[in-house]
Amino acid sequence: MITRSQLISAKDLEVDGYMFIDMSSGTANGSSMELGECIQNTGFHEDDETEDAVGGDEENRTSTVKMSPGREEDTYTQIKPYAGMPKEVLLLYSVQARYRLPREILFWLTIVCTLALVALTITVIVMSPRCLSWWQSSPVYQIYPRSFKDSDSDGIGDLKGILDKLDHFQYLNIKAIWISPFYKSPMKDFGYDVEDFRDIDPLFGSMQDFDDLLAAMHDKGLKLIMDFIPNHTSNMHQWFNLSSSGHAQYKDYYIWANCNTTHAPNNWVSVFGNSSWTYVEERQQCYYHQFLKEQPDLNFRNPHVRREMTEIVRFWLEKGVDGFRMDAVKHILEAKHLRDEPQVDPQQDPDTIDTEFELHHDYTTTQLGLHDILQAWRGEMDIYSREPGRYRFMVAESYDYEETEKTMMYYGTPYVKESDFPFNFYLMDLPTNLTGTGAQGLVNLWMANMPVGKWPNWVVGNHDKPRISSSVGQEYIKVINMLLLTLPGTPSTYYGEEIGMMNINVTIDEIQDPFGKFNPNASRDPQRSPMQWSDGPNAGFSDANHTWLPLHPHHTTVNVEAQQKDSGSVLSQYRALSLLRQAQLPLHRGWMCYIWSDADVFAFLREIDGLDKAFLVVLNFGADSVINLSAITELPEQLTLHMSTKQENYGMPVIKSSISTARGEGLLLEYSTHMRFNPGHASQCFVSEKACYLGVLDILYKC
Ligand code: GLC
Ligand code: MG
Repeated sequence: MITRSQLISAKDLEVDGYMFIDMSSGTANGSSMELGECIQNTGFHEDDETEDAVGGDEENRTSTVKMSPGREEDTYTQIKPYAGMPKEVLLLYSVQARYRLPREILFWLTIVCTLALVALTITVIVMSPRCLSWWQSSPVYQIYPRSFKDSDSDGIGDLKGILDKLDHFQYLNIKAIWISPFYKSPMKDFGYDVEDFRDIDPLFGSMQDFDDLLAAMHDKGLKLIMDFIPNHTSNMHQWFNLSSSGHAQYKDYYIWANCNTTHAPNNWVSVFGNSSWTYVEERQQCYYHQFLKEQPDLNFRNPHVRREMTEIVRFWLEKGVDGFRMDAVKHILEAKHLRDEPQVDPQQDPDTIDTEFELHHDYTTTQLGLHDILQAWRGEMDIYSREPGRYRFMVAESYDYEETEKTMMYYGTPYVKESDFPFNFYLMDLPTNLTGTGAQGLVNLWMANMPVGKWPNWVVGNHDKPRISSSVGQEYIKVINMLLLTLPGTPSTYYGEEIGMMNINVTIDEIQDPFGKFNPNASRDPQRSPMQWSDGPNAGFSDANHTWLPLHPHHTTVNVEAQQKDSGSVLSQYRALSLLRQAQLPLHRGWMCYIWSDADVFAFLREIDGLDKAFLVVLNFGADSVINLSAITELPEQLTLHMSTKQENYGMPVIKSSISTARGEGLLLEYSTHMRFNPGHASQCFVSEKACYLGVLDILYKC
């Protein structure tokens, strides 16, 4: 039994009325400091009460710690740890195995868990595939603003009209809207002749209307893509007036060359026909225009012009627009030497050359330096893309016909970004290639030439080309929409394609398009008629007595309102496909593999590694047909009809040895298999933004 004096000699510490015992001094000097069997931890008690506390009262014993097992005299008890104990007491306990061990275990556990968490985070980051951006996950819908919806009853569409119709895009599950130009313009080329790049034409509304439209679109999760027209301005632009008068600062804003009223500087011709030079008396020189004489070409070799145009890009980015469609980019630069372009037919009398098809455009298109200009704008757009969810998109417009390598250059290089994609116009040639093999050939023209890792896109119509349903026949419009929405990449939809609108007939006297006035066969009016919203007056487009172009007579049946009520309509099927494209992984980021093509049918599959569900798309561009896909061992014997453009019996089984399609029918067949087609058929398959699916965790990962 320890006495009070022993306790004190054992270097007792009393702090603030607590009694502490320094165990270390007792054991370090080897003396057997007997504390008795136990000491009660009495917590808050006075010094004089300690005596009682160390008494041998059995009831007060609470803990006994054997410091030296086996040796009776080393066995002693001590106070229980208590809340608020000072450091010295804490240290006393902390060395004991029963406290030290769990502590060490916890310590190492924390280290291991932290490391595991860091490793997991790194793995997740490294293994995560890139998220698809908004311009990849939605079709791009083109609005021609004169013809979409008129809000002020003047017979011409406007910005408020577009605002009224935003629900249409939510209905169609479309997020990306490209609006053709609405800048202040004398409208010689219906807005592609810009008088002021920082103002809205009163015909379309005001800057306030634009701001309201953009805000409303962003509220609804829609993105606005503007037309940017760098190649030329209107001849009414103040720069051109100043340039024509030889103003020191502006004289080189445009391309001027010596000439006289009878002799142009060279043989260059305009895209819209005739010489691309026009004489200005005031300056006694000719200016150059790739399009109308009211659209003088800017001189991009002048650094001031480049700076001005970049500031305009910034102006709209600051306003919050989500992207630009870069108009007519191949024309931005011309050769400085102004030499004649070579004739396609060297024998042709040079004086008779008046269309672009009669010359090789070696000096007026795709000149060295063009891509630097676009890349610089891309750089500006990237600065504005840094905010999360505010990626600014760029699409380039360039008709290089089948000079695929020229087109693909607009994708940029692996190290320098340019447009997100150049428009792919190859499917516009479907009317002259209307077979299964023809369709596959046009698809392949893009897929086989697109740089690795880039994102494809598909266009069948716009404000410059005849409507596809008119040129292939309306019976094929559904199958064409199915092609666009099931191919990998971004589909484009020109307003009205979602309901199967067709070209209107415009008599020669009624022609509005300046290009049409030069060449009536090339008039673009037929594809620009007012949107058909309902079977009401002016198809619900306008309350005016007269619309700027006539409505298509079939608007009483072909209109949005009627088609919304019909589950088999072009519109309902478009919507179903648009929703499906978003919902089904294999459709928006899976492999596309060619399976079949013949005179009638083009078939391809969409699959994603790791996911058993896949789709076979069978498209008929010819006559009724039955195909036998028994040889494709990766396909199961039986597939399920997910959607047909002609039949309603969805869910019906389809046997792979006998897949029948009617003329113009498209089938979307679903199947389940653990066998992938792409590993054994690399040359028939393409993938962008590759990812694999991990079923157990229901996640996508980079593979
Ligand atoms: C583009 C436009 C076209 C316009 C031309 C000149 O090709 O799509 O409509 O006439 O550029 O700006
Ligand atoms: Mg109007």
